[in-house]
Amino acid sequence: MDKRKAIFLNIEHEGIVEQVETFPNEYRSLMMLIFDRICPEDFGECAGMGKCGSCTVLIVEDPTAVDDYRRNEAATLKRAGITEKGVRLSCQLLVNENINGCTFKII
Ligand code: FES
Repeated sequence: MDKRKAIFLNIEHEGIVEQVETFPNEYRSLMMLIFDRICPEDFGECAGMGKCGSCTVLIVEDPTAVDDYRRNEAATLKRAGITEKGVRLSCQLLVNENINGCTFKII
C-alpha cells in the first residue's frame, strides 16, 4: 500500500474537466503532469524552462494556494502580454499538497 498522501487536481481542457490523482514528487511540475496525463497539443514547448509561455493555466479556484512566481515566470508572462490574475506557467508550479483540490484550466 502506498503511504504517500494523494493529491487530487481538476484539469479543464477543451471544455472537459478531468480529475487527476497524483502524489508529491511524482512530477517535477504541473506542466509535466498535464503533458503526461492530458497531452494537450503544442503544450510545454520549452520543456519547463519558463521561456516559451505555451504551458499557461488559469487557476480557477483559490490562486493564493499556489506558490509565488519562480525563475523566468513573471518576465515570460509579461512578454506574452498576459496580465490576467490567476494565469500561471504550469512548468513553474510544484505539485504538492498546497494545490490539492485546485482546478486548473489550460488556456
Ligand atoms: S514549458 Fe515553456 S514556459 Fe512552461
